[in-house]
Amino acid sequence: MKQLTVLSSVLLLALSGCGKKEGMETPGAGKKITVGFSQIGAESAWRTANTQSIKDEAGKRGINLQFSDAQQKQENQIKALRSFIAQGVDVIAFSPVVETGWEPVLQEIKQAGIPVILTDRAVDVSDLSLFTTFIGSDFVEEGRRAGKWLAEKTGGKAQIAELVGTPGSAPAIDRKKGFEEVLAKYPGMKIIKSQSGDFTRAKGKEVMESFLKAPDAKQINVLFAHNDDMALGAIQAMEEAGVKPGQDILIVSIDGVKNAFEAMAAGKLNCTVECNPLIGPQLFDAVDSIMAKKDLSKRLVVQEGVFDQSKAAAELPSRKY
Ligand code: AHR
Repeated sequence: MKQLTVLSSVLLLALSGCGKKEGMETPGAGKKITVGFSQIGAESAWRTANTQSIKDEAGKRGINLQFSDAQQKQENQIKALRSFIAQGVDVIAFSPVVETGWEPVLQEIKQAGIPVILTDRAVDVSDLSLFTTFIGSDFVEEGRRAGKWLAEKTGGKAQIAELVGTPGSAPAIDRKKGFEEVLAKYPGMKIIKSQSGDFTRAKGKEVMESFLKAPDAKQINVLFAHNDDMALGAIQAMEEAGVKPGQDILIVSIDGVKNAFEAMAAGKLNCTVECNPLIGPQLFDAVDSIMAKKDLSKRLVVQEGVFDQSKAAAELPSRKY
């Protein structure tokens, strides 16, 4: 997300602490706030947890949530956004499947006078007034964290196969960027294969199968997967091919879902960089601020960490997603 300034974690923590305010303005006495939310789909365990967090929080706060699942298609998201305009919702929020192609519909929303909150993924637009705030992770930093962990673990020597996320999506673009930034400092670390697994377990498995059938398959000693679901699919492919995941091929991925912790505890995955999907509370804090006409930062970053096998067993019982 090139256009946005990343704020310091101190400021972000302060902002994420904003709760529902007493006496805030609502759209009329006794009238519920209506929020239209367009979700990308249900492509991963991360996404399912993200949807649940948003629905649960809306329920707790008595928000009338108009939820729409786009099944990973931008055209479906655009249709949903237009239907939110037609319904006259108070706030529109969405997780854009890809970064580009949003300007026309965002202009329509602006003309209708409806504030927009971006969640999870950013858009690439030149006019920043087209949205009020963006709440999400720092994907470039996640890619860097994966790269740094790997450099330390391998002493800067790795022949890497990369499972890329959905082409054109912010996490796929930014995680690759952050990872390659680290690799640039280590001439002994090279990406020798790279293909999209679309953030799904099935596609991650399929692409890993093809990597393992390639003539140079034996050179691969590391897998970097842009999310846990693709890594979990790849683990299955490795086991079916007689390759020991976590040993013959080191695996680092991103998200930190429960299944990834289980795989780490079983020694099959080596590291997961956390990407926290539980952003429902931050989203509806932002909605409250908008309804109360309070100032809102343009960028709210979610706090997250890095977990390797040494921390997996201790973390697993309390893992929420
Ligand atoms: O945008 C966040 C990414 O989208 C998560 O890493 C991935 O699992 C999901 O599909």
